[in-house]
Amino acid sequence: MGAAYDILSVKTSISSSADSVIWIGSSSDSSWKSVEGVDTKWLNDRCKDVEYRGKKGELFHVSATESKFCDHILMGVGDAKDLTIHSFKKVVGSASRASFPVSKQIVVVISPAIIKALTTTGSEADLAQAVGDAWICGSYQFQGMKKESSDRKSRKVSVYVSKTMTQAQWKKGLKRGCHVGQGVCVARDLGNRPANDLTPAQCVKDIKQLFKGQSNVTVEVISAAQAKKKGLNAFLAVAQGSVEPPSLVFIRYNPGKSSTKPVALVGKGVTFDSGGISIKPSRGMKDMKGDMGGAAAVIGALSALVADGFSKPVIGIVPLVENMPSGQALKPGDVITAGNGKTIEITNTDAEGRLILADSLHLAVKESPSVIIDLATLTGAASVALGQAAIALMSNTPEVASSMKQASDQSGERVWELPLYDDYLDYLKSDVADIINANENRLAGTCTAGKFLEQFVDDQPWCHLDIAPHMKAGKTSGDQVKGMRGAGVRVITQFLFNR
Ligand code: BES
Ligand code: MN
Ligand code: ZN
Repeated sequence: MGAAYDILSVKTSISSSADSVIWIGSSSDSSWKSVEGVDTKWLNDRCKDVEYRGKKGELFHVSATESKFCDHILMGVGDAKDLTIHSFKKVVGSASRASFPVSKQIVVVISPAIIKALTTTGSEADLAQAVGDAWICGSYQFQGMKKESSDRKSRKVSVYVSKTMTQAQWKKGLKRGCHVGQGVCVARDLGNRPANDLTPAQCVKDIKQLFKGQSNVTVEVISAAQAKKKGLNAFLAVAQGSVEPPSLVFIRYNPGKSSTKPVALVGKGVTFDSGGISIKPSRGMKDMKGDMGGAAAVIGALSALVADGFSKPVIGIVPLVENMPSGQALKPGDVITAGNGKTIEITNTDAEGRLILADSLHLAVKESPSVIIDLATLTGAASVALGQAAIALMSNTPEVASSMKQASDQSGERVWELPLYDDYLDYLKSDVADIINANENRLAGTCTAGKFLEQFVDDQPWCHLDIAPHMKAGKTSGDQVKGMRGAGVRVITQFLFNR
């Protein structure tokens, strides 16, 4: 790994000779560029010349040679009153990339109309957090595995804080936003790495490395042999077809400041999903290196929480396996006994995520957490239902679902709730076992997967996020960069910050 993460702070004045200025403005306040030290009259006239109006997505770059001072990059958001955190973050992400060519220090100026529009519900610190997070996410680059790597340097970026803005709030928010953004980048790096590099064993090493030297974090690894003793046969069943040994990792964050019950975060970590004996078609199969997106989100979120000095305990539970066909692989028709004693008839070995999660959720329950959140690239059906527009949310507790939806609005990482009707349990009836792992008629694929998971949480408050729709970005746009998206980090960190 080793991505370049920009560092954002605040600045109360701009120097035309030393800085490059990124102006983020709306179409509703056309002449707002009044900042000490910058000849904005010239800039306003120049905007009139080229009929720059600050429309949504409009970009205008005045080079330092042309302005005779510094680079000016103008980015439009359209009408400020139509803005949401979701749409604003896209613009900030684009601005972050648009400023790659400038060499001097970067100062970001956000117009008063935007600040006014986005602080009606949230605080200035919340807005600052969004700026920091989107800036970092937008300029993410996977360092990759090419012989000639394009090592990007970290940049020093400041947000201009005017007299009407609260400096302390912006400082605090930007710092937190940077931590969250860096957590997203950690998750993206894990997702983008090929499955022959990021095996379950390698992932364990990387987790240990990531939290090395953190006195309030302990990493515990359950090996295959230990899992066998604990009866975690659903977890082991998925791994048995692969030569890669599985691991189930506990990451315990205990800041010691509070005696509250921990929140448990559980993340699906299938480092490669071939489908197993129910093998997938070859088209697009390479994307299944990203089937550990849930695990990546848990690891990325924990790294953000640790960096931010979060005050409450959190337990990350990450089952890591590879799903492969072989002479030893799990077969359709097999019946296994999960850790909680329930028997599962395997109808499709490609419905493997819910198997490893079944045992992980069972382990989570035993930690008596206040709430369990799981994240998983669980079903293709979630994308059939929602496209790539939102993460699918299911929960057995309305209060938890509504807190998650609130965190979604604040973080701009969209979730949409789907039901867990009892009807779906009928879809999972087996002739020989307590439950089947997948219904062959494919009705309500996402909801039946959620219903399956619900059988393993013992009525504890729980929320399931099917992040399959947000697994991968097909192209670079806004705060998303082509490749694995690091989905879930932002919404779950916000959910925790709100608690
Ligand atoms: N990892 C896949 C789901 C997936 C597909 C995530 C595409 C992201 C993009 C999961 O393990 C799977 O294969 N699910 C099956 C379930 C089916 C067999 C009931 C699916 O979605 O087809
Ligand atoms: Mn699968
Ligand atoms: Zn899978």
